[in-house]
Parts: sequence; structure tokens; C-alpha cells
Amino acid sequence: MADTNLPNAPRAQSAIVAESLTRNFGDRAAVDHVSFEVTQGEVFGFLGPNGAGKSTTARMLTGFVRPTSGRALIGGFDVATQASAARRLIGVVAEEANVYADLTVLQNVLLMAELHGLPKLQRLTRASELLQTFDMHERKKQKGRELSKGLRQRLMLCMALVSDPKVLFLDEPTTGLDVVSTHMIREVIQRMNRERGMTVFITTHNMEEADQLCHRVAIIDKGKLAAIDTPAALRNRVSSMRSVEVRFAQSGIQPQDVMAEPIGKVVIAANGFKVFAPDPGRVAQEIATRASARHLSIESLNTLSPSLEEVFMSITGGAHGSH
Ligand SMILES: Nc1ncnc2c1ncn2[C@@H]1O[C@H](COP(=O)(O)OP(=O)(O)O)[C@@H](O)[C@H]1O
Ligand SMILES: [Mg+2]
Repeated sequence: MADTNLPNAPRAQSAIVAESLTRNFGDRAAVDHVSFEVTQGEVFGFLGPNGAGKSTTARMLTGFVRPTSGRALIGGFDVATQASAARRLIGVVAEEANVYADLTVLQNVLLMAELHGLPKLQRLTRASELLQTFDMHERKKQKGRELSKGLRQRLMLCMALVSDPKVLFLDEPTTGLDVVSTHMIREVIQRMNRERGMTVFITTHNMEEADQLCHRVAIIDKGKLAAIDTPAALRNRVSSMRSVEVRFAQSGIQPQDVMAEPIGKVVIAANGFKVFAPDPGRVAQEIATRASARHLSIESLNTLSPSLEEVFMSITGGAHGSH
């Protein structure tokens, strides 16, 4: 048999491998047999609500937390048994990380460059480059303690990138940040991925962020992997949860007054209703056209996408046998 599926072939293409990663705290599994692979050059999102196990997974992949069982590989190196080889490939912005408060912006980056063994001449060039990229150059003499949360996070990105890592780990890098810093961080991540082929592992609880940045997304729920796919495919899975919500100036208008036939579930509300449909844009158009023909005035008409919570309920509910 000419079977080319070789289970033991080296996975040279995988930047990150999680093999049945498990971590118990007491008798609870914070991460429960989680397996996935991230291809070189991929931006991979790890999405889940608070307490789902995102940070614990990121910490096992970067060698800060030892797995109870299972294995993590970075660039083919085992994070537990080949720790220094694996660590040389990575840059990390951890959830609880901080900058040195008494050092200046520039000193923080230079220190990190030194810890990574960059030659002295290269340190300043590389640090200046990164500070410019993150629009921090003017502040290079400011102390760490004087920085706002957004600026601190930008500085931490500089520190994580100073060694030119092959794989960048970011644990909720934009949570609670101002718009400018959030935009800048997302933009630089995308650019580094595009221009340098840098692999990115990013945890977030923001569906929009995952949608915008990631080639693929894994959804983790209560320590277990619930889904892994492209953002578009994930959204399609829950297309049945898209809806149109309409409110009329008049009361007592029924769905059949403005729709040929209800497409999905209908929820009646005060002065209007909400109807679930995979193609809410088309339904909204139909409602508007028919309402206008009947001289009904629409107060508001909105198409709604499922929230992250709803995506979760749909995906984890699906795992229990419904379709
Ligand atoms: N050091 C720890 N000791 C005990 N429990 C922990 C520890 N770290 C995380 N947990 C628990 O493990 C679960 C997953 O946490 P975490 O990985 O931080 O989730 P997330 O990053 O998705 O919010 C939570 O219930 C959390 O309370
Ligand atoms: Mg976390």
C-alpha cells in the first residue's frame, strides 16, 4: 500500500506542537489534553473566556509552567528536555509581565538584548529600531514607572522582539489598552508576520481581534479544546445565530406583515421582532422593502452577529450531540 501518511515523520514545518498538554491544579484540570500544531509563519489565536486555560497553555508552551502530562515542542525542540534551544526561538509577552520601573525605556530594551546575548554594537541599533517602530523613541529616557499601561505594553513588545524571535507568544496583549496602542500592536504583529514570516501565538477573549489577526483560531473552554479552524469557518458554523432586529414606530406589526415567510426562529418584542437567519442582510432588505410598500415606518433595523458567548454555547453545545 502506497500510504504516504507517516505518523512518525519529523514535523519540520511545525513551529509549535502541543501534544496532549495537561495541567492540573489540585484535582482540577486547568488544561485538559490539549493538542494542536501551529505551522511556521502562521498567526494562531487561542480564544476563550476568563479561566478557560489560555494562560496556562501559553505558560506550558513557553516553559514557565511544567505540564502535568503531555509535551510541548517549539521548532522541533522539546520545551522540557531541550529548554535552552526552544527558548532561543521565542519571544514572550506574558500576562503578568512588567517592565523594570527604575530603568528607562531604552535601558529596559538594552537589558533584554544583553540577556539574549546580542553583541554590544547590535543592541543599540536594534533597540532604537524597535522603539521607533512602536513610536517610543521620544520617550527613551522616561522611567518604566512613568509609563501608561499602553506604553508599558508597547515597551514589552519591544523587549520581546529584540532577539528577533522566530515564534512570538502574546498573552492578551491588548486587553484594557487604549485605542492607539491596541491598533499599533495589532499592526506591528501583522507586519512582522508578513515581512519576516514570524509565527505568532496570541491568546485573546476578543473575537474581533482573533478575526482580524489570525489565520486560524483554537477555542478553549474549561480546559478543553472545543474547536480549531479559520475565523471564517468558525463564524459560518454559527451562521444560524445571525439575526435581524426590527422596531417599528407603530405597534402590533407581525412578522408576516413584512416578510414572505419567517426563515428561522422569531422572537416578538415591543414594537417589533427579531428573526434568526443565516443571511440577515437579505432579510433586512426584504423587511425594509415590504414595510415601505405598506407605509410602515421603521424606527430601527439591525443585523446582529452572535457574540463570543453565543459562539461558545453553540460550539460546546454541538459537542454534546446536537446539530
Ligand atoms: N497557579 C495556579 N494555581 C491554581 N490554580 C490556577 C493557577 N493558574 C491558573 N489556575 C486556574 O486554572 C484555570 C485556568 O486559568 P488560566 O490559564 O489563567 O485561564 P485564562 O488565561 O484562560 O483566563 C482557572 O480556573 C485558574 O483559576
Ligand atoms: Mg489568562
